[in-house]
Amino acid sequence: MNNNAILTYETVSLDENERSLLILDQTKLPASINILHLNDIHDIWNAIYTLQVRGAPAIGIAAAFGLYLEALKIDTDDYPSFLEKFKKAKDYLNSARPTAVNLSWALKRLEKIAALNNDKTVPEIKELLRLEAVAIKSEDTETCRLIGEHGLTLIHNGDGILTHCNAGQLATSKYGTALAPIHLGRERGINFRVYCDETRPLLQGARLSAFELLADGVDTTLICDNMASQVMKNGWVNAVFVGCDRASANGDCCNKIGTSGLAILARHYGIPFYVFCPASTIDMNIKTGAEIVIEQRQPEEVTEIWYSKRMAPDGVNVYNPAFDVTEHELITGIVTEFGIARPPYTESLRKIMLP
Ligand code: MRU
Repeated sequence: MNNNAILTYETVSLDENERSLLILDQTKLPASINILHLNDIHDIWNAIYTLQVRGAPAIGIAAAFGLYLEALKIDTDDYPSFLEKFKKAKDYLNSARPTAVNLSWALKRLEKIAALNNDKTVPEIKELLRLEAVAIKSEDTETCRLIGEHGLTLIHNGDGILTHCNAGQLATSKYGTALAPIHLGRERGINFRVYCDETRPLLQGARLSAFELLADGVDTTLICDNMASQVMKNGWVNAVFVGCDRASANGDCCNKIGTSGLAILARHYGIPFYVFCPASTIDMNIKTGAEIVIEQRQPEEVTEIWYSKRMAPDGVNVYNPAFDVTEHELITGIVTEFGIARPPYTESLRKIMLP
C-alpha cells in the first residue's frame, strides 16, 4: 500500500450495505493503513476512547454514525421504548471522551431528530437518523473548506506555520481545521513551511500531521515540543495555527495539552496565534474555559507506550491531562467557517453564533 495516498482515504465513513462504521485506525499510522469495520456500540465507544478515531469533528461524525447503527438494532416499533433505548445508547457514546464538544453536539443533533419526529413510525425515524448523520459528515467537509479559505487570508506564500497535535484531514472529514489553509494552499500552488510539534504523549503531530502534510507535498519539519521556543526565536515562524476541542463564550480555547504554552511563547516573540474551529466547537453554554472538563488519561501513555521497555520507575505519580485551555487574551483570532472572530470575543463569537 502506498502511504503517500493517505489523503485519499476517508477518516470516518458509513458502509450502508454492511451496516458498519469504517474508521481509518489512527493508532496504526503512519506504519500501516488499516480500516476498522465496526458495528458493535462497545467497539465504537472503545475506538473513540483509544483514539483510533480522534480530533473533535471526526469524533462527532463517528459517534453520529455509531448511534444510527445502534438505532437500527433497536428491535421495536413502539416509539416510547425505541426512544428510551436510543437515549441510553446516546448517553453511552457521549461518555467516551469528555472534552471535545463535537461529540455531544453531534449526538444531540440525532437525539433531536428522534425526539421531534414522534408522529413518524420507528422505521421512518431510523431513516431520518441516517440522513442526519450523513449530513453531519458532508457539512463538515464544506465547513473545513470555508475555514481554510478564511485561514488563507492570514498568511503568504513561503510563510512558516507552527502547529500542534493534528487538526488536519485526519481529525475531520476533509482538509482539517488548522491545516485546511495549508492543504487548500497546495491545491492552488501556494506553499508554506510547516513546523509540527511532535505532541507528547501520543505524538499526533509526529505520526499524523507530519504524515498527512508530507503526503500533500508540504515542506514539513518535525520538532519536539520543547523546541518551539527556539524555532520561534530563529525567526522561522510567521504564525501559529492550532485546532480546538471546545471554546467558551469568552473565547478561551481548549485544545491538546501544550497548546497554551505555545500561545505564551508566541506572545513573547510577537507571533500571531490563531485557533481554528467550526462554530459547532464553540460552546456558548459555558462562560469561560475554567468550566471545561479536561480529560485525564492513563499514566502508561506517558511511561510506556512508545518505549520498548517501560522508561519511568514503577510507582511514580503521573499527571496526564489530554488538553489545556488557552486564555482568550493570548489568541489573535478564532477562525471559523463564518469568518475570523477577533477580540473582544464575547461580542464577536456571539455574532458568529447568531445564525
Ligand atoms: O486527543 P485528540 O487527538 O483527539 O486531540 C485532538 C486535538 O486536540 C485537536 O487539535 C482538536 O480536536 C481539533 S481537530 C480539528
